[in-house]
Amino acid sequence: MLEKASSCKVNLLLNILGKRADGFHELETVLHPLNLCDRLTFERAGEEIKLSCSDPRLPINSKNLVFRAADLFLDAADIPPSEGVRIHLQKQIPLAAGLGGGSGNAAVTLLAMNELFGHPLPPSKLAELAASLGSDIAFFLQGKPALATGRGEIIRPLEFFPALRGTHLLLVHPGFGISTPWAYEQLARFPAALRGAPGRAERLISLLQTDLAAAAPEFYNSLEAPVLRKYPLLELFQEFFREEGALATLMSGSGSTTFALTGERGQAEQLLENLKAKFGLNLWTAIVRTSDG
Ligand code: C5P
Repeated sequence: MLEKASSCKVNLLLNILGKRADGFHELETVLHPLNLCDRLTFERAGEEIKLSCSDPRLPINSKNLVFRAADLFLDAADIPPSEGVRIHLQKQIPLAAGLGGGSGNAAVTLLAMNELFGHPLPPSKLAELAASLGSDIAFFLQGKPALATGRGEIIRPLEFFPALRGTHLLLVHPGFGISTPWAYEQLARFPAALRGAPGRAERLISLLQTDLAAAAPEFYNSLEAPVLRKYPLLELFQEFFREEGALATLMSGSGSTTFALTGERGQAEQLLENLKAKFGLNLWTAIVRTSDG
């Protein structure tokens, strides 16, 4: 049996450049892995794909990205129909949260299946399968921060950013998820957010090499325009984090997770306490060290 951790990410920047003829959006994004993980186990067994999951809200059929990744792999690797796999997914990462939890699960499934069946596919083929499953899945085939372009599937891995060494992220999820297709569709009503100027990602990456104070104001997410309009609570989280002196705050991906960047862990813990005192809600929260991926 193979056991794998499946991590998630935040977008330090998500700059949408325009809508493409294929319906997707051209973008540049700076992705940072987080050591906050779901767990998956894989076992060769039976003739089919049998998926189970700790979270009853998730489908366990071909609507689940894990199932689709396993199915795509078996097909691409020409595994005979007499061979199958049993997979269990233990969720910890919140759903529809902008953290790429499901995408990470799919990427880990591709890697684990390849391992389980003796590496029939080269990394380039796995990257191709990942891109066909979803826009940010290829990112999770590697474990580093990255610049992603195209619709998010073209990945340039980067070293962990020196300016973030020793910093922490406080993540807060309000208890409701946001549909990614909905968030992208809404951009049609926000022309400035739909047509960002290219180059912001390169500028942020360059500043993150040396200068956190200069980099922090460059954190940016085009999808905040529609999402914060519809969900003012997320705007309130950001206002609060700014008042409390967070180094930066931003919504991740299409939301609903908001993160605050702080210095040492004690500062993130204090911020969390203040957040709970102020909002008094049943929030999902996590504190993650930025540099350990
Ligand atoms: O590729 P993925 O399945 O993650 O994307 C979910 C949805 O988000 C797409 O169907 C599309 O509506 C939107 N999207 C987009 N442009 C991107 C990525 C996603 O319009 N670059």
